[in-house]
Amino acid sequence: ARSAERPARRPDFKKLDADDVAYFKSVLSSPSSLVTTIPSPDGSWQTASEDDLVGYNVDWMDKYKGNSPVLLKPKTTDEVSKILAYCYKKRIAVVPQGGNTGLVGGGVPLYDELILSTEGILTADAGCILENLSTFLHPKGYMMPLDLGAKGSCHIGGNVATNAGGLRLLRYGSLHGTVLGIEAVLPDEKGTVLSVNIPGGDGAGALRKDNTGYDLKQLFIGSEGTLGVITGVSILTPRLPSAINVAVLSVPDFKSVQTVFKETRAQLGEILSAFEFFDQEGLEMVLHHTGAKSPFETEPENGRAFYVLIETSGSNKDHDDEKLGGLLESLLENETITDGTLAQDETQVQSLWSLRESLPEAAGKMGRVYKYDLSMPVKDMYSLVEEARERFKEKGLDKDGSIKTTVGYGHIGDGNLHINIVAKDWDEKVEKVIEPWIYEATSKRNGSISAEHGVGIMKSRALHYSKTEAAIGVMQQIRRLFDPRGILMPSKYLPMESDAPFEQ
Ligand code: FAD
Ligand code: MLT
Ligand code: ZN
Repeated sequence: ARSAERPARRPDFKKLDADDVAYFKSVLSSPSSLVTTIPSPDGSWQTASEDDLVGYNVDWMDKYKGNSPVLLKPKTTDEVSKILAYCYKKRIAVVPQGGNTGLVGGGVPLYDELILSTEGILTADAGCILENLSTFLHPKGYMMPLDLGAKGSCHIGGNVATNAGGLRLLRYGSLHGTVLGIEAVLPDEKGTVLSVNIPGGDGAGALRKDNTGYDLKQLFIGSEGTLGVITGVSILTPRLPSAINVAVLSVPDFKSVQTVFKETRAQLGEILSAFEFFDQEGLEMVLHHTGAKSPFETEPENGRAFYVLIETSGSNKDHDDEKLGGLLESLLENETITDGTLAQDETQVQSLWSLRESLPEAAGKMGRVYKYDLSMPVKDMYSLVEEARERFKEKGLDKDGSIKTTVGYGHIGDGNLHINIVAKDWDEKVEKVIEPWIYEATSKRNGSISAEHGVGIMKSRALHYSKTEAAIGVMQQIRRLFDPRGILMPSKYLPMESDAPFEQ
């Protein structure tokens, strides 16, 4: 991990060897489910090269790197169960992995942990790619209740494991509301399969309401692979709207972003489905790296503006057009907005969305990205971006080229700010200027150090900025209950993991 303190490998974890691989091979129904650099003594499996595993050992940002010699892609829940029961018995550390689009280093090993990927688990289960689920639902008139820029790669199991937020949480709510049931395999002696409100599973299935006891599925939403491996999900799918409008507006300052948000909520009400923002640095970065043209006719005064993307989704186009038209007219009239573009067709809807959705990729093309995903009252958001820029200037990090740009964007409608600090390289000196300062600055604003990306390895030791000691203690007890030997996600998610007692 690119971090000043890299937690040590726990010495009691077994080092994977040919006997372990032989066992895994015996429980996997397909030879393609096993990829390993460990040679077979009798030639019963093919030895992979390190290159075959590199995409699973390194994260999307190229920031966190592990060195696992074994990747398993089981096809069924039963295979996952046998693998986890074996890992429990042998004390083999495991990292569950979905589409590996996570942004906090959770989904890749730190050392030599076994990678247990959902890539092999197909039909309508945890390994389904989010976009494929949407494509499946659309002709039937339904949609997935979440959408994110990583939709082409992330898995629904990974989405639930991270409690991903995304671009339409404002409208459809968090996965804590839309996930109805979960099937998960526990890292215990039996590889217990826990089925909660899943159709065709044991017990009640995929009901909207079920008040029989603790709502265990909620624990798995956002558990980031620490409690078990999610193998199945049942989820509410809203009706696909028949009318969609997208507008991108330019406003002179951040205060105006807030005014537009207030007005938009008041005037659009139930048809509002996204309210996103990005700053001047963000727009310039995206235009530069995608080659797209600015959607605005005028240049901002003083060279700076803020940009807002508004989406409406409804069932009556005339009604929505009228409402959005009325909003834009009133905002132009009272000079809250300075410029704007309204998409005229589906292609324009996509190209306006792409200005916002391309931000993470554009930042990645520009350099190494220190990403912060913060939750706080909207009014306090942008001063943090400005303070960050001031701080980097004071420390000379912009002058010496260590930091190329600092970009602010995010899901205004959910009070979620993303700060991307684009550096020339991964650099301890830069990281020390940012952390823990940025967590303290967030804490001072009563914010949370993760709104939606989660904790992973990146923030496990910073959790106290957002959670009390008592809350962390209870979380550690819950984790031990599900994972008595601490084999899942070692050193990640919670602080002081190595101090916690493990079952012998
Ligand atoms: P991975 O990255 O493979 O894993 C993430 C974590 O979940 C790891 O801790 C892993 O151990 C665990 N995990 C994965 N699958 C399982 C499973 N089946 N059972 C148990 N644990 C599991 N996030 C947002 O919240 N909102 C956004 O708008 C958003 N946009 C993004 C845009 C881009 C371009 C990128 C690259 C990422 C974005 N993300 C966003 C982050 C990321 O896409 C999400 O966190 C996503 O939900 C991760 O899914 P995944 O399948 O890639 O999981
Ligand atoms: C986003 O909102 O674009 C995502 O959370 C990804 C990111 O911030 O990089
Ligand atoms: Zn986001």
